[in-house]
Amino acid sequence: MKASATKGTFIDLFCGCGGFSLGMKNAEFECLAALDFNHEAIKVFKANFPEVTHALEKDLTQFTPSELEKLIGTREVDVIVGGPPCQGFSRARQRDGANHGPRMIEDPRRQLFQRFLAFIEHFKPKVFVMENVLGIRSASGGEYFTRVQAEGRKLGYRVVAREEHAAKLGVPQNRKRQLFIGIRLDVPGYLANELKPAKRAVLRPTVTLGEAIMDLPVLAAADGAQEMDYDLSQRAQHTGGNNHHFIHRILEVSRANKLTAHDSRPHSARDLRDFAKIREGENCKHAMLKRGAEFEFPYNKETFKDRYTRQHRDRQCSTIVAHMSKDGLMFIHPTQNRSLTPREAARVQTFPDWFQFPIARTHQFRVIGNAVPPLVAEAVGEAVAQLLESAASIAHGSSAKVIPFKSATRSSSIPSSQEEALAWLATIALLTRQQLRKTDATIFLRGWYALLYLYPDLHPENATDHGETKENSAAHPHHQLDLSQRYIRSGWPVMLELLGREAWHRYDASLISDDDFYCVEAQLAGFAASHSSKHNLLRVLLAS
Ligand SMILES: C[S@@+](CC[C@H](N)C(=O)[O-])C[C@H]1O[C@@H](n2cnc3c(N)ncnc32)[C@H](O)[C@@H]1O
Repeated sequence: MKASATKGTFIDLFCGCGGFSLGMKNAEFECLAALDFNHEAIKVFKANFPEVTHALEKDLTQFTPSELEKLIGTREVDVIVGGPPCQGFSRARQRDGANHGPRMIEDPRRQLFQRFLAFIEHFKPKVFVMENVLGIRSASGGEYFTRVQAEGRKLGYRVVAREEHAAKLGVPQNRKRQLFIGIRLDVPGYLANELKPAKRAVLRPTVTLGEAIMDLPVLAAADGAQEMDYDLSQRAQHTGGNNHHFIHRILEVSRANKLTAHDSRPHSARDLRDFAKIREGENCKHAMLKRGAEFEFPYNKETFKDRYTRQHRDRQCSTIVAHMSKDGLMFIHPTQNRSLTPREAARVQTFPDWFQFPIARTHQFRVIGNAVPPLVAEAVGEAVAQLLESAASIAHGSSAKVIPFKSATRSSSIPSSQEEALAWLATIALLTRQQLRKTDATIFLRGWYALLYLYPDLHPENATDHGETKENSAAHPHHQLDLSQRYIRSGWPVMLELLGREAWHRYDASLISDDDFYCVEAQLAGFAASHSSKHNLLRVLLAS
C-alpha cells in the first residue's frame, strides 16, 4: 500500500483545515485519510488537498476505526497524527474567566484523546503523534497528561511527551504546544532529544511578525477583500533579514496569483480610537501605567490587561488562537489601525499564500487558529521520517550510516541475556546518588545499556517526569532488585529512578554521547530477547 515515492503513509484525525497534514505532506508523507466533523474545516481541507480521496466530514465519537479501514481498504498505515480538540485543557480559557470551574472539569472534549487512541489500537501505526495545548500537563492534577502516556504504552508504544516551541522551528509566533509521540515497540529507535527545524525553515535567529507580513497591501479596518492583487511595490520594499526567504520559501508567494483572505474585519469607532492610543508592542495596561493613556472600553481594566494588544514588528506574534473568530483585539497590526486579517494570521501560522480558505471570515480565523503550524508539522514529519528510515535500514542490515550500530566499545557492553543485563544493573541500581556520581564511566554505561535492554518500552526522556502515582507490574525477577513498582506516567521502574537522573546528568554534561544515551543497539537486542521468534523484530519490519 505504501507509495514508494513517499516516506510513508499517514492518517490525520481531527484534521481541521489541514495544518498538520500540510507539514506531513511537505515532509513527503502521503495522506490516506483526514477526518473532522466540522463542515468548514473539511471544505478548506478538500480545496487544498485535492489528491486526498478520503477527506471525511465525520464525528469521531461515532465513526469507528473499522469503518475507516473499510473505506480506505487497508489497515496498514505508517503514522497517525492528530490534534484532539484542546479547548477543554486550554489555559487561555481558564484565564479569561469565561470557562472555569466545574464546566472545565467535565468538558467532554477531554475524553476525545481516547478516540484518538482507539484508532491507534486498531491500526497500530509505526508511529503516532498527538498535539495538544500545554494545559494538558496540569489539567486535573496531571491526570490526562499521565493517561495519554500510560495508555499509549499499554497499546505497545514507547511514548515520549515533548514540549514544542514553534518560534525555535522558524515560526514567527510565540506558540508552545505539547506533543505526544509514540513509537511502536518493534520499531527500533528513539526520537533525538530536540526537534530540529524543517530543512526549508528560515531562522537567523528567529522570524519576526514584520518579516512575515509587512509586504502585504496596507489596509484600514473593514477594508481588503477575499481576493485582490498583491502590492508589488510594497513587496519590493520588503527586503533584507529573513524576509525574502520567508515569503518565497515558506509562504511560496510565487505560487499564488492572487492574494486571498486579506480581508480586515470592521471595528467600532470606540475600539479604533482605543487602538490608536496603543503603541507598537504595548498592551492597554502598559499604555495606562506607562503613559497614563485613558481608554474608553467598558471592560474591567485590571482583568483585561492584555485584552487590547498591538503586536510588534520585530518580535514574534502572540499565539494565534481560534478565539480570533470572536474578536481581534489582542492582534492589532503593528503599524495599521486594525486587527490582523485571516491571511496575516495564516502567514503567522506558516500557511503558504496559495493555501485557500473558501469559507466565511469568522470560520477562517477559527480554522487557522486551531491549526498546527505547517512548519512545525514538517519538522515533526522529518523527524519521524528519519526514525522510520533508521528502523528500515536496521531491518535490512545496512544501519552503519544511520546509526553507529556496531561501535567496538559498545558491542562488548550490550548484554547478551536478561540474566547478564540484570547482573550489570544490580552493580549500580542499589547505589546512592553520591555513589552513582562517582561510578566509573564504563560500569555506569553498562548499567544504562542494561536498563534499555530490559525495558525497550522506555524512552530515555521518560526518566525526567514520572508523576506521582505508581503501580505494581510484572517484573524481571532478581534476588537483590525489586523492580515490581513502576511509575504510571513514565513507566519507569521506581527502583531505577536515580539511575535515570544520573544518566541525564551525565548526558547534559556531555559525559555520555547521543549514541550512548539513545542506545538503539541495546534496545533492539532487548526487544529481540523479550520476543519469541514468532514476533521476530526483523520479520515484523520487513513485512511492513
Ligand atoms: C485543534 S483542531 C485540529 C487542527 C488540525 N490538527 C490542524 O492542524 O489544522 C481540533 C479539531 O477537532 C475537530 N473535532 C472536535 N470534535 C470532533 C469530533 N467529535 N469528531 C471529529 N472532529 C472533531 C474540530 O472541528 C477541530 O477542527
